[in-house]
Amino acid sequence: MADHQGIRWRTFLEVGIISAVIYFLLGAPGLPAGIISEVSTQGEVPVAKAKVESLVYPQSNLRCSKHKFDVHVFSTAPLIIYIDGFLSEEEAEHLVRISQNKWQVSTVFNEGVETTDEAVRKSEKALIERDETVQCIEQRALDIQGWPQETFIERLWTQRYNETGHYAHHYDWATASRTSRRVSTFMVYVSAECAGGGTNFPRIQTPQSEHWCEFIECGDSSEPGVTFKPRKGAAVFWTNFDQDGRGYKETIHAGMPVTSGTKIGLNIWSWYQAGHRIDA
Ligand SMILES: *[C@@H]1O[C@H](CO)[C@@H](O)[C@H](O)[C@H]1NC(C)=O
Repeated sequence: MADHQGIRWRTFLEVGIISAVIYFLLGAPGLPAGIISEVSTQGEVPVAKAKVESLVYPQSNLRCSKHKFDVHVFSTAPLIIYIDGFLSEEEAEHLVRISQNKWQVSTVFNEGVETTDEAVRKSEKALIERDETVQCIEQRALDIQGWPQETFIERLWTQRYNETGHYAHHYDWATASRTSRRVSTFMVYVSAECAGGGTNFPRIQTPQSEHWCEFIECGDSSEPGVTFKPRKGAAVFWTNFDQDGRGYKETIHAGMPVTSGTKIGLNIWSWYQAGHRIDA
């Protein structure tokens, strides 16, 4: 009797393990690609720890003045919004000023290792001080999203793209899991004294209405999909995941090469971290 039961449980366990192996061999259908890389390429330091240390919180006495901007919903799944005037003129200039003398070469992560690769990403980045203006911009990003729970802003960096600067097609999902992921992106144009430098989404259709031509490239562009124009102070906002936590394939995007002049951008990423609380 005892023997018989022992065999039954062993069989269950084996079937379970074999099924799990087959599931991962099939590429873990239903999970975004990031989960698999988290399982296979992270070292001893769990990715969430380094990430949590890069999250920022508004100081408790932060008072931000009202700021108006124009919202244009581009698509609902994924949610993509063009926000004209996301930054005021003064805020944009302030960001340029506080980035001065802080520029360093941008890096990419290749199998968990930080390196430079101009074929993928050619720009400079600056870690900006979190003064009141910057914290109010962080807060605005959360306000627009409706104060999502257990969701925090990642420390802000500005990015400078000189002539030939670009960022090849990529997703912002890297290292996603059920309990932590980069839920959304604001691509903010801080300065756009340039030609080129639009944000291209090759898997998204150009809309019909000519109204959009103020904000997207409408000419016979050689790029597939839609390319948002860099406009000083404007932002493109999008969600990276659907309700079930699957990465939206449509969010693959690129910073197109700057053909003359300089573009300065600001990424505002919102990070979902289940169970995480502000300890301040
Ligand atoms: C980008 O252009 C600025 C001047 O606009 C210059 O100071 C800076 O060195 C340039 N960066 C690179 C990497 O060439």
